[in-house]
Amino acid sequence: MDLNQFFRIRLSTIRPEKQTSFDIYVLVDNRMVLYRRAGESLFLEKIEALHAKDNGNSFFVKIADRDIYRTWVKEEINSDLIDNKQKANILRESSLAIMEDLFENPDVNKALDDSKPIISDFLTFMDQAPESVGYLLSLSGHDFYTYNHSLDVSIYSLGLGKVLGFTAAQLEELGLGCLFHDIGKRSVALEILCKKGPLDDLEWEQMKRHPQYGLVILNQNENISDGIKAACFEHHESWAGNGYPQQIAGNDIHPFARIVAICDTYDAMTTQRSYNVPLKPTEALTMMKEKLAGRYDPEMLKAMYSVLFKIQAA
Ligand SMILES: [Fe+2]
Ligand SMILES: [Fe+2]
Repeated sequence: MDLNQFFRIRLSTIRPEKQTSFDIYVLVDNRMVLYRRAGESLFLEKIEALHAKDNGNSFFVKIADRDIYRTWVKEEINSDLIDNKQKANILRESSLAIMEDLFENPDVNKALDDSKPIISDFLTFMDQAPESVGYLLSLSGHDFYTYNHSLDVSIYSLGLGKVLGFTAAQLEELGLGCLFHDIGKRSVALEILCKKGPLDDLEWEQMKRHPQYGLVILNQNENISDGIKAACFEHHESWAGNGYPQQIAGNDIHPFARIVAICDTYDAMTTQRSYNVPLKPTEALTMMKEKLAGRYDPEMLKAMYSVLFKIQAA
């Protein structure tokens, strides 16, 4: 059986009591084994035991059933039977699996198509349950992974874009740009990405090239908009002009990139990384406003307070 015919799912997106409309496979010794047939239900204990074992990459659905799976996730999100916290969890976990594919799949065009539903599902959820947006974020204290990070940056950015009055179309484009903002890290050596402790000068130089690497990846196909490219290429520029790689300043930096810059730093500061202790939301924002003043668009930074206030209030 061709492993390329499958995509990963998180088993935590499946409620044990609900029969699925697609077959679920499990990867055993590099072979796909049918784990649960469409229409079958499982004993609760068995699925709970398996949930506990789910490391995020051992359960799969046939690519031919991808639309059926997406519809199934959508139905869950609109279901009256489960609460917003559970819905947010299903949404996040189903998106995480797509993100894993996105970072490992060389076909950016396909990745773009796959990620569009993530953003529209996020936006729908934000409209339906604005008080539960916080549940979409990864739990603080979790390790810092590019996938989790990219999803978090998207969620914060969509919140910020909404406060700034962006249209639905702009929000969708912004959300995609955020999912792709660090895609260039695919081209950075894994030893550098996963290094515990600070990077040396050479390693840092290579790490700082990820915006360019990202642009090269995105330029490989014509369907990627300039806004998405800018979110990737310009997200480490600084309002004051001392960022990288171009040292552009102020309004010369694309608004998407200015938004990503804020949400990117905020997420990095408030999430556990191997070599630091996460800051509390207010500590992070105060640090950005005081110690890092000048790096960010001041109006946007102000708006970020109200985004976080809304998330916190929930
Ligand atoms: Fe980055
Ligand atoms: Fe980032």
